[in-house]
Amino acid sequence: MEKNYSITINDKEYHYLSTLDKSLLSYLREDLNLMGSKNGCGNGQCGACTVIVNGKAKKSCILKMSKLNGSVVQTIEGVATNGKLHPIQVAFINCGAVQCGFCTPGLIMSCKALLDDNLNPTREDINKALGSNICRCTGYNPILEAIDIAAKALRDNVELKLNLDKSGLSEEVIRKDGISKVLGKPIFSEDLPIKNSLYGELVLSKYAHANILSIDTSEAEKIDKVVRVLTYKDLPGENLIGIISKKQPVFAFEKVRFLGDPIALVLAEDKKAAIEASKLVKIEYEELTPIFDMRESENSEIKLFDDGNVLKKLSITKGDIDKGFDQSDVIVEDTITVPPIEHAYLEPDSAYAYYDENNLLTVSTQSQSSFEFREAIAKNLNLEVESVRVITNATGGAFGGREEPTVQVHAALGTYITKKPVHLVMDRYDVLLRTIKRHGEILHYKVGAKSNGKITALKANILADTGAYPSAGEAVILRSVLFSSGPYKIDNAFVEGTAVYTNSVPAGAMRGFGSNQPAIASEILMDELAKKLNMDPFELRRLNALDEGSKTIGGQILTNSVGLKSSLDIVQKMVKSYKKPVIEGKTIGIGIASGMKNVGLGSGMNDSAGVIAEFIDGHLLLKIASVDSGQGSDTVARQIGAKEFGCNLNNVDIIANDTLLTLDSGVTTASRQTYVTGNATILAVDNLKKEIIKQLIENSSCKDSDLFKFANNSLCVNDQCIEFTKLYEIVGHLRGVGKFSSLKTVPLQSKTDNLDNLSDEFRLHFAYDFGTQAAVVAINNESGKVEVLKVFAAHDVGKQINRLGVKGQIEGGILMGIGYALTEEFIINEKGLVTNSIKKIGVPTIKDATEIEFEVIENYAQEGPYGAKGIGEITMVPTTPAVINAIYDALGIRINNLPAKPNKILTELKKLNIKEKK
Ligand code: FES
Ligand code: FES
Repeated sequence: MEKNYSITINDKEYHYLSTLDKSLLSYLREDLNLMGSKNGCGNGQCGACTVIVNGKAKKSCILKMSKLNGSVVQTIEGVATNGKLHPIQVAFINCGAVQCGFCTPGLIMSCKALLDDNLNPTREDINKALGSNICRCTGYNPILEAIDIAAKALRDNVELKLNLDKSGLSEEVIRKDGISKVLGKPIFSEDLPIKNSLYGELVLSKYAHANILSIDTSEAEKIDKVVRVLTYKDLPGENLIGIISKKQPVFAFEKVRFLGDPIALVLAEDKKAAIEASKLVKIEYEELTPIFDMRESENSEIKLFDDGNVLKKLSITKGDIDKGFDQSDVIVEDTITVPPIEHAYLEPDSAYAYYDENNLLTVSTQSQSSFEFREAIAKNLNLEVESVRVITNATGGAFGGREEPTVQVHAALGTYITKKPVHLVMDRYDVLLRTIKRHGEILHYKVGAKSNGKITALKANILADTGAYPSAGEAVILRSVLFSSGPYKIDNAFVEGTAVYTNSVPAGAMRGFGSNQPAIASEILMDELAKKLNMDPFELRRLNALDEGSKTIGGQILTNSVGLKSSLDIVQKMVKSYKKPVIEGKTIGIGIASGMKNVGLGSGMNDSAGVIAEFIDGHLLLKIASVDSGQGSDTVARQIGAKEFGCNLNNVDIIANDTLLTLDSGVTTASRQTYVTGNATILAVDNLKKEIIKQLIENSSCKDSDLFKFANNSLCVNDQCIEFTKLYEIVGHLRGVGKFSSLKTVPLQSKTDNLDNLSDEFRLHFAYDFGTQAAVVAINNESGKVEVLKVFAAHDVGKQINRLGVKGQIEGGILMGIGYALTEEFIINEKGLVTNSIKKIGVPTIKDATEIEFEVIENYAQEGPYGAKGIGEITMVPTTPAVINAIYDALGIRINNLPAKPNKILTELKKLNIKEKK
């Protein structure tokens, strides 16, 4: 007789027999529809699926149901009781420990298991308990804070309440979507109800470089439950995608250029059949020699495209470079190599396509712009844009990695061909293999300066690996060139940049967008210059710092909101009052670095946004198209809406990112949405208020000449105030539209011989962010392992709208910058995908979280909403070089080939010892 298996989940008993092979995660999600536990990696490395089994935190993706007979399980759905959030859940929201929210349920379960057992956990206890719960957004500090607060509340048996009092500008405003995220609600694309949908499985290339001789789908099509197998032949429109140059095929057909190239799409009634059939698609290849080394690519005889291996080559000249070096008293020169790295957003890509009630071909997915995706799908399927709808769901992190479709066009095609809903989900391996990376670059720098520290010349050559297809590579190499000087005034410069193709995964946008790599090089060179001149590094930077009125290396005169010198002053003060610790067996060092980053797309691109504001049931409804992938743009829009409309934050609702309901506001990238959508929100609410007054005058005895004021959830006419709910009864459902276009920018003309010849009005970007950071490191004398003890930071934001959001961006960005300096790299080569898991790409864990002391500089940006200009990217730009400079300060060794892993530190130390002995 078969054994009867039973399991208790959230106090309910379940019996099972047919699911013995399944993981607990699959059982929860597929059989019980409990979507709170998330699938971030499927192999026990990210912690998104954590549940409590028999009192212990466990990764449900690696637990087999056959081993769980009689077990007692608690999932995130069982944590809040009687509609009341658990103190950990409240603390997570109040502390800003929830950003994108994909890691949140798993983290809360790990925290709960810890606090169920120990209400006085040490940092070591926490590191152990949460060491394999990855959070890419927060930098972990708010999580540590939340654990502290929740533990205290549980110890003292006091109730924790959501911090709803704070709602004004510059306050620490909590996010409304935090509630659904701490409850593990099914808000992500993979959580969607997918009953009766087809499952899609992509067939990827077997080689990094090969000609495709033939594709035979016949055997695959014979598999039971397989509905169709699609290839390039089934695509009705353009078989190309790409942000700037379109060269990447939706389906490869003649040639494959990297291991992630999709060749066919199997559509089946279930996952098992789709996977089985995908293995039977026969593809005949002629193998070609791949190129993985960017240095070999430019002049290689192997051509990856007919027009060669160079995506973009450009140079800029400013002043007279020879004269600049002639004027210099000292010269420093170095070559810095930075690797490609992975975005590591925690939610794997997925898309659900179907025909909606209006018969629109609809794709529900994650993205950084519903509108861009809609355009791509329409082009690839040869459809009118209006017949396609894209809805961006809660997006589990992005960091620039979701600007381009990955599975969305394929899902749409599946539905278009079969007329059935289609669901496509990438697993972590595919995310690593197929989605874009940050460009690896080799930067050769030569900097000349006077003996007083004034920089006279910069010569730089930057080579970037853009991988198999262009993505945003042209714009990235342009930014690398334009930010090559760092945030400094340099009169004489010559900088060349080349982005070359290889057979690696395509590289594109990532937080900082081409400004991080040159920041690492230029700040290392600044450090070397300071050492050579025996000058204080703050002083050297201050002497050369861009200020209001100075011209960037890109030829733009900065007219306002340049906070660099303030950030240097603040961080210098912080460092001065810091007492370097003494730790046995470790050497301590402090390094500093500054950075700048553009806000907005610039270069003449359309930097505009549109918002619809509606008055409905006495509430303000904002329809916006900025994507909240965790950074908190929905909360910022609500705050602005509430301020402009004179209502409570609670009275503002958001509909975001549905191409049917919202207005195109461009991509959520380049730290631009606070600026553009913020301004559009102000305009929309203003127009709505005008409509309301107009209707009130028509429907009541009010007159044009009356004094109207919106405040305290009311409209006051002279001295008489009408509450919004009453007002709604009088004026009904109204709307106002706000469209904002930023100050006009212009692209750099390729024919400009010398950037000094540009007019004073030349504007490449409408605003720039600036910041300075100092990192304190402790290096283990034996192992060479670097620990970042503390980071001091000062950043100018124009005006902070949400203090909690700004803090989150600073803390999250800094830890990402530390990862870039010390542990992160993405490797793919002749052997295949080497860094093939979350662990191997070196993403920081809670053990790497560091103490951060920061100050925000409010220096109003001329045109920004209330002076705000955005903060998302700049926060990680100075961190990486500050850490590298701190290593030099500690040991006197220069790591110029990132990441600074212990083996490299030990090798450099050995070289130094040999040199010193000589
Ligand atoms: Fe289970 Fe990542 S999904 S650990
Ligand atoms: Fe943790 Fe996004 S909030 S991964």
